[in-house]
Amino acid sequence: MTDLQRAATLLRQARSLMALTGAGMSAESGVPTFRDARTGLWAQFDPYALASPEGFRADPELVWNWYAWRRELIAKARPNAGHLALARAQSDGRFERFVLATQNVDGLHAAAGSEGVLELHGNILATHCFNGCGTRFTSGAALPAGTPPRCRNCGGWLRPSVVWFGEGLDLAVLGAAQQAVRTCAVMLVIGTSGLVHPAAGLPSLARGAGAKVIVVNPESTELDDLADVCVRAAAAKAVPELLGL
Ligand code: OAD
Repeated sequence: MTDLQRAATLLRQARSLMALTGAGMSAESGVPTFRDARTGLWAQFDPYALASPEGFRADPELVWNWYAWRRELIAKARPNAGHLALARAQSDGRFERFVLATQNVDGLHAAAGSEGVLELHGNILATHCFNGCGTRFTSGAALPAGTPPRCRNCGGWLRPSVVWFGEGLDLAVLGAAQQAVRTCAVMLVIGTSGLVHPAAGLPSLARGAGAKVIVVNPESTELDDLADVCVRAAAAKAVPELLGL
């Protein structure tokens, strides 16, 4: 039996599924990953200058424009066959419970039709006030490059609602993911390097609670040692095959 067949069997037998996705999930939709050696964003850009509160304070326009560029890339991207298969497996009722958590900020799971997606690292189309006045903006409106817009309540800079280095995750979102992880029969981990915590700790939590863990990734990762099966393949091809779709 191949690894893919073993993983597909575990998925067929499972009543409840938790999926955790990372940047590799969207790679075949044309959204760059972070840590791939040649094409990853962090191979070309300084994460602390572009994805930290200190970086934004030092140069709000630089940071805002980098996110505007990423929003443009994402606007051209469409969900791939992997995103679509996860959405279909959720809606066709084969699992009693199917919770999908993602580290991606691109919104492609929701665009594919997945419901209740736990966006652990936020969403690049939303903004909130950097001053901490609490105002959030989730608009479909254009967020063009240039100087960042100002908060209409307090006049502070607006920033993208993504989690930056040194920041905590939304506790309600993380708590919901941890709860799903503790109670799933199988955890499917797709396209993540498993290096960024706390998301990277979820598979080990699942394993500790007795779930089977399947890793889908063309490369080896930090998570392979705790996986029951590693499927060495790209997400857009492997995920539909794993789910028989
Ligand atoms: P990484 O860039 O760290 O890892 C992407 C993973 O996807 C790698 O293990 C690749 O081998 C794998 N991969 C590449 N192409 C793939 C494909 N077609 N199918 C399946 N896998 C593929 O991305 P993440 O693990 O998501 O945080 O990174 C975690 C966080 O670090 C991101 O959410 C981001 C970043 O800093 C924030 O922006 C807060």
